[in-house]
Amino acid sequence: MTRIYSRLEKILLPFKTLVIIGSYWGDEGKGKIIDLVAPFYDAVARFSGGAGAGHTLITELLRKFIGHLIPCGVAHKIMCFLARGEFFDLARFIAEKADAFRAMDGKLPPIRIDRQSPLWTPWHPIYESYIEYVMGKKKVRTTGKAIGILSGFAKLRISLLVGHLFMDEKDLRALLRILYKVCKPNFDQMIEEGIIRKRDVPGPDKVAKYLLKMAPEIKDDVIDTSWALSNLWKRGKRILLEGAQAIGLDPQWGTYPYVTSGNCTAAGAALGTGLPPEATTNIMAVFKILPTRVGAGPFPSEVWDRDKAERWAEKHPELFEEGRTRNRFLEKKLAKINAGTATPAELCQYFMVLGDERGATTGRGRSIGLPDLQWLRYMIRINKPKFLALTRFDMLSGVRSIQVVTGYKLDGRRLKPDEMPEPWRLGEVEVITQTWRCWSEDISGCDSFDELPEGAQRFIKRLEKALGVPIVLVGTGAERDAVIVRPTA
Ligand code: IMP
Repeated sequence: MTRIYSRLEKILLPFKTLVIIGSYWGDEGKGKIIDLVAPFYDAVARFSGGAGAGHTLITELLRKFIGHLIPCGVAHKIMCFLARGEFFDLARFIAEKADAFRAMDGKLPPIRIDRQSPLWTPWHPIYESYIEYVMGKKKVRTTGKAIGILSGFAKLRISLLVGHLFMDEKDLRALLRILYKVCKPNFDQMIEEGIIRKRDVPGPDKVAKYLLKMAPEIKDDVIDTSWALSNLWKRGKRILLEGAQAIGLDPQWGTYPYVTSGNCTAAGAALGTGLPPEATTNIMAVFKILPTRVGAGPFPSEVWDRDKAERWAEKHPELFEEGRTRNRFLEKKLAKINAGTATPAELCQYFMVLGDERGATTGRGRSIGLPDLQWLRYMIRINKPKFLALTRFDMLSGVRSIQVVTGYKLDGRRLKPDEMPEPWRLGEVEVITQTWRCWSEDISGCDSFDELPEGAQRFIKRLEKALGVPIVLVGTGAERDAVIVRPTA
């Protein structure tokens, strides 16, 4: 790691703040990148998302910790903030903090929570399931953590906020009664239609009791995070701003309505932390070589079919386990891919297994897409990243060539290089592709760009030229140190 850190230092030192965002539809490996850059920062703030997102971290003690709400930086013991742009679920936070405590042998850094973040109640998931039920076939297929409801109630100005837990109890109860009254007609409808039972819906008193019982556990950590972050920034401290999900899932810039509800673009960093926009202009966008998507919604470069991909992975867990079965499967499929006889299903299956592209908790497969330059140019237009971090580049090792999406056509017209159609028409675009040669060598042991095989170097340079942004990090394998740093790019 020493060599990696000394190269990284050259890139990161001039940037006192760094915003990390995702480029496609999430699961790009932001966690790994944050884990890598965190040692160069004094604090890390999650500015978006909520319990729906997930990242697996390996701590110094080599223990596994799966985080949802707590920023990835926690493993490096730098000060953590759950900023105002993050939706807060108290019970999950307490459980997650206990897990982190165990994984780090009690050596947790301070973890501060914003006093004005929207607060989850047991009514939120019921309301979310109602909306999904009403949407029927058009449902979003959310993560079930009520992110949309947390955001929606906040926008309707009826949400409970974290700090409300510490106001006069009678005021808190009054707020809960308002929220309950707004939700109740829908709950009654659900009971009438037999979707839930009456006893599934707790009344305001029960919810107050439930929340107030847990509140003391966080009381000392609930603050105005914007004030604390702003002070750190003014004192010249270095702050990492951790995004959640990715632009494709942003409510305004993603594929609405098949999106999450937090701000996933770089603009969300200022909105979610209260730091001024000028403090959030150093942006690193993370993209994996082959995009993936879970849940519903358009995915222009998708190789196969979302539902089928999800179910196929669920049905074949044995292929995702290290060993002979997996190796034989991969060998056979790769031979077909290189002979040009693989079907889209086989192409997707090969990459799903190779990259273990499935949800950590659900086991559902993540549907695979081709590298999509049109989408990435759009992402660059919206976020203007200074750097790109390319993850899972090793997935193309051994593949003779891959189709790269270089443009979209709609109604017979080729779209401008960074143009994006309405999301409801994105499913209709015809993708324009080019065949890009890959390389046959294993790149997992490569330590620098120069050590990469010539085909891999060419691929990266070609990507960089097409996107106009330097690729400074290249992931070459699953291990923590399997990454190439390119300080001079
Ligand atoms: P929600 O965030 O639970 O409302 O889910 C909305 C959409 O975003 C669904 O299609 C989810 O599958 C997707 N989504 C939410 N969080 C993640 C994530 O961390 N990775 C990938 N997809 C996500």
